[in-house]
This record gives sequence, structure tokens and C-alpha cells, in this order.
Amino acid sequence: MKILAFETSCDDTAVAIVENGTDVLANVRVSQVEHSKWGGVVPEIAARLHAENWRGALEKCLAEASLTVEDVDYIAVTAGPGLQTSLLTGTTAASFLSQFFHKKIIPVQHIRGHINSIILDRTVEEIKYPVLVLTVSGGHTDMFLQTSTTEIEKLGGTLDDAAGEAFDKCAKMLGLGYPGGPIVSKEAEKGDRKKFPFPRPLLGKESLDFSFSGIKAAVYRTVEAAKESGSFSIGSDSSSNSNFIADVCASFEQAAVDVFVKKVSRTLVRFQIKAVHFTGGVSANTAIRGALQEVCEKNKIEFRVPERFSYCTDNAAMIGAEAFLQYQKNPEIAQIQFIDCDSRLSV
Ligand code: KG4
Ligand code: ZN
Repeated sequence: MKILAFETSCDDTAVAIVENGTDVLANVRVSQVEHSKWGGVVPEIAARLHAENWRGALEKCLAEASLTVEDVDYIAVTAGPGLQTSLLTGTTAASFLSQFFHKKIIPVQHIRGHINSIILDRTVEEIKYPVLVLTVSGGHTDMFLQTSTTEIEKLGGTLDDAAGEAFDKCAKMLGLGYPGGPIVSKEAEKGDRKKFPFPRPLLGKESLDFSFSGIKAAVYRTVEAAKESGSFSIGSDSSSNSNFIADVCASFEQAAVDVFVKKVSRTLVRFQIKAVHFTGGVSANTAIRGALQEVCEKNKIEFRVPERFSYCTDNAAMIGAEAFLQYQKNPEIAQIQFIDCDSRLSV
């Protein structure tokens, strides 16, 4: 069963064709570099660029898979959560396509897409449940207990900033580009992880929630103090400046690593976890991956991240995977219909 999937919840226009939930026949993503000069996503610009980019992305996707819209069985689209105007461009385009080609359409919850991005290029049967899923992106930092492909219960989430957002803001404070995650992570490789003792907010002994605003505020104070003392200035290429940037990034990344390791460790025995899955844009981070892998090895449980980096960040292949799983559970969800979007749609 071939599904043509669309994802436009934030700033990437993504189109993919996925067969039987796991086989990716084409996976196209058009990124919007325009946002980098604003240090974050501007919703109005994102919506306009989705409208401009989606047709080209669709044509590229069909060409990559050597298929036409007539050849696919169903259409899928992200219905939420995300930026309302970005979502609307995707749901409108996909809904028109569904009606024009008489293909039933399946609405998909974006976070469920990230959670099940794990099955892409894998076999579903290899996964033993219950699984602890950590989904961490620019908009979300959530922990879920997954007992089957579609039964998912939220265990905890962030009370303030998402971890990816904290990475992005850290980069912005240091005058680095956007998105900040990959840049901070690269700088961190050269820095001293113990140089700045940023906080590790754990929110009480049993809590499975997260908070990143304290770490972000501590980075802000450190950067401002260095600016005032003249030891750091944005844009300077002196070696002391470069060292400061690398040390802040390394210390910040280590604080994030420690928080994730602690929170994941708390759940393993409590829920008799058989595997940990780390998904979402931040799962591209090698330091966090490495630390979680170590925890899993120690506890003799499986650790998985999406098979490709392109399945970590926002992509349409994961939307195709999740649509297939939802369809298997209830074929009635596929209808010729106009899909409404909901910027706060929950798991
Ligand atoms: O899943 P995603 O593409 O979009 C959202 O749904 O938000 O995630 C994007 C986020 C950004 O905040 C970006 O900085 C972060 O993922 N990210 C990373 C890395 N690569 C992307 N964060 C840390 N380390 C990375 N290597
Ligand atoms: Zn996402």
C-alpha cells in the first residue's frame, strides 16, 4: 500500500511516498533558509514559502519514486500540532489533491509521526514493547510509554522551553546561526564540558517532566557577564572568543545530556522497558545519542534512533509510516474529505 504523505507543520515543506509503512520510495524536504536571518521561524514567511514550494516538492518526490499521483493508494497529511498557517497550507493542498484524484486522505498527528519514524527502513516485528520513547525537537520534549505501534501514553513533557528551542537560543546568544542544534553540537566537540556548571533541573525525585528555561537563563547570564568583562564579543574571531563559544556549547550540551540520562534511567525499571527510542530533531545529536546508548547497554535493553538523520528532523516519510499504522488499526479514518488542521492536536 503506497501512501503519498505531506508535512508542513513548521518550516520544512516535505513530501514522501512510503510503501506499507516502512519502505521509503521517495523522501523530499525543501528547507526554508530565509528564517535564519531572524534567528527563528517567522510564521507568515513559513506559510508563504510552503505555498510556493509544495508543488515543486511534490513533483520531485513523484520523479524520485518514478510514480504519478494515480499510482498511490492513499494521501496522508499532518493535521497538527504546529504553526496554524503552516499546517493550513499542507492540509489545503493535500485535501484538494485528494478530491481531484479521488484518493482517500488520512490525517496524521505530527508527534505520533516522530514516535513511529523508528519503523522507517525497519521491520515492525523486531520491536518489542513496552518502549520508552523520547521525542525531542524544536517544539517538543516529551517522554511516552508505547505499548504497541498505536497505543501511546504520555509520561512527561517540558514545563517551559523545548530542548531544541534551548539549543537554538543558546546558538542565538552566541551569535551563531539557525537552527542552533547542529552548530552548538559541533562547537561542543571542541569545548570543555565541565567549564560552566549549568543547572540540571530534575524537578523532584519522581518527576518525568523537563524544564530547560533555567539552563537557558544560566547560559544567558554567562554570556552577558563575558560580554561586560570584554572577554567575549559576538562576531569576533579571536581565539579566546572561539574557546568561550566552544566551552559554553560543551557545558550546555553536557547539562542536556545529564538531564536526559537521568530522566530515562528513572523509567526503565518502573515500566519494565524493553527498548528506548530517541526521535525528533534533537535525536540527531551524537552526544545525547551516545549517552543514552550507554544507559541502554548497561541495562541490557535495545536502543534505537531513526535509521537516517533525515528521519530525525521533520519529514514526510514519518507521516506516511504513521498513516499506515492508523489505517491498519481503523481503515475508516481514510475518507475523501477536507482535513481541518489543529495547531494544538494532542497525541
Ligand atoms: O523535529 P524538528 O525538525 O522540528 C520540530 O518539530 O521542531 O526539530 C528541529 C530542532 C531544532 O531546534 C534544531 O536545533 C534541533 O532540532 N536539532 C538539534 C540537532 N539537529 C537538529 N539539536 C541538537 N543537536 C543536533 N545535532
Ligand atoms: Zn517535528
